[in-house]
Amino acid sequence: MILVTGGTGLVGSHLLYHLTLTNDTVLAIYRDKEKIKATEKVFTYYTKNTAPLFNKIKWVQADITEVPSLTHVFQYPITNVFHCAALVSFDPKDYKKMRRVNIEGTANIVNFCIEHTIEKLCFVSSIAAVGDAVNGNIITEENEWIDTGDNHGYAITKYGAEMEIWRASQEGIHVIVVNPGVILGSGFWKEGSRKLFSQIYNNFKFYTEGITGFVGVKDVVKAMIELVDSSIKNERFILVAENKSFKTIFSQIANGFGKKAPSIKIGKVATGIFWRIDWFLTKITGKVPLLTKNSAKSSHNTSYYSSEKITQAIDFQFTPTERVIKDVCNDYLSEIN
Ligand SMILES: NC(=O)c1ccc[n+]([C@@H]2O[C@H](COP(=O)([O-])OP(=O)(O)OC[C@H]3O[C@@H](n4cnc5c(N)ncnc54)[C@H](OP(=O)(O)O)[C@@H]3O)[C@@H](O)[C@H]2O)c1
Repeated sequence: MILVTGGTGLVGSHLLYHLTLTNDTVLAIYRDKEKIKATEKVFTYYTKNTAPLFNKIKWVQADITEVPSLTHVFQYPITNVFHCAALVSFDPKDYKKMRRVNIEGTANIVNFCIEHTIEKLCFVSSIAAVGDAVNGNIITEENEWIDTGDNHGYAITKYGAEMEIWRASQEGIHVIVVNPGVILGSGFWKEGSRKLFSQIYNNFKFYTEGITGFVGVKDVVKAMIELVDSSIKNERFILVAENKSFKTIFSQIANGFGKKAPSIKIGKVATGIFWRIDWFLTKITGKVPLLTKNSAKSSHNTSYYSSEKITQAIDFQFTPTERVIKDVCNDYLSEIN
C-alpha cells in the first residue's frame, strides 16, 4: 500500500489523482476534514466523475509532528511512502514551526519507514535546498548547499529535512529526493505560488527581473511516480522545466487570462522599501506579510537550474511553462466563472 503525506496540498492532491489511476487503494493523511474537499476539487480538473478514483483514497487523520497519530497510520501494510507534507513560508515568524514540521516531521516519517522496512521513500524537497551557483554557472544536483548564515528559514528546513532522508538511505531504505523549482498547478488558489494567478487576474501591474526555475505540478508527480517505479535509488533530481524571468512568467499568466501583462518594473531599492513598510504594517495589523525580506531578495535573484539528470535517467520530457500556464489559467477561469 502507498502512503501519501500532504495529500491536502497542491503536490499531494495531484499525486493522489495519478496514483488512484493505477492503485486500488491509496492511504493519505489529513489534519482538517474540510481540506479533503479541496483535494476532490483538484480531481475535477482531470475528470467530471471523481467518485470512482477519489473513493480509492483511505483517509487517516494524522499530524507528522505527532508520533502517536503516525503509529496509527503505519499499522496499515505500507510499502512505499511519498512524503509531500511541509510548511512552506517565507515569513521569519514561522521559522520555529517550519523546523518542527519540516525537519522533525520528516525525521518522524523516516523513523517509521525504518521501523516498518518500507521499500521506497520519495521526498519532495526544493531547489531551495540545492546550493547556489558557483561563478554564475548553471546549478545541478552536485551543487552543495552551504550554510552562509544568510539562508532563509524555508531553505534551512528543507535542507534539514533532506538530511533526515539521507539518514534513511544509510539505514537501508531506498530513497528518492526531488528538488522542484516553483511549482505551477491548479487548485488551492489562495496559497503559495497559486496566488500569482489570482493576483495577475486582478490586474497586478508589477514585475521584477529575477530568474528562477519553474515546473508544472503534473510533471512533478509524474517524475515522482516514475522514479519510485524505477530501480533508481538514493539519488536526488532537480525538476525544472524552464528557467524564466518573473517578467516572462507573469506575462504568460496575463496572456492566459487575456489580460495586459504587468508593465511596471520594480527595482531592488523599491522592493527593499516595500518589504520594510509591509513588515511595519504587519506588526500593527497582525496580518500575514505580502512580501518579506527573503521573498523580496529572491524576486531579484538570477539562478539557472539544470534538469539534465532526470531527462537522462528516465528519459523524462518536461511540459513547457507556457502550456502549463495556459491549462492552469483555464482551470482558474472555469472555477471563478
Ligand atoms: N509549491 C511550490 O512551489 C513548491 C516548490 C518546491 C518544493 N515544494 C515542496 O513540495 C511539497 C508540497 O508543497 P505544496 O505546494 O503542495 O504545499 P501546500 O499546498 O502548502 O501543502 C502542504 C501540505 O502539507 C500538509 N502539512 C503541513 N503541515 C503538516 C503536519 N504537521 N502534518 C501533516 N501534514 C502537514 C498540509 O496539510 P493541511 O492541509 O492540513 O495544512 C498540506 O497537505 C513541500 O514539501 C514543499 O516544500 C513546493
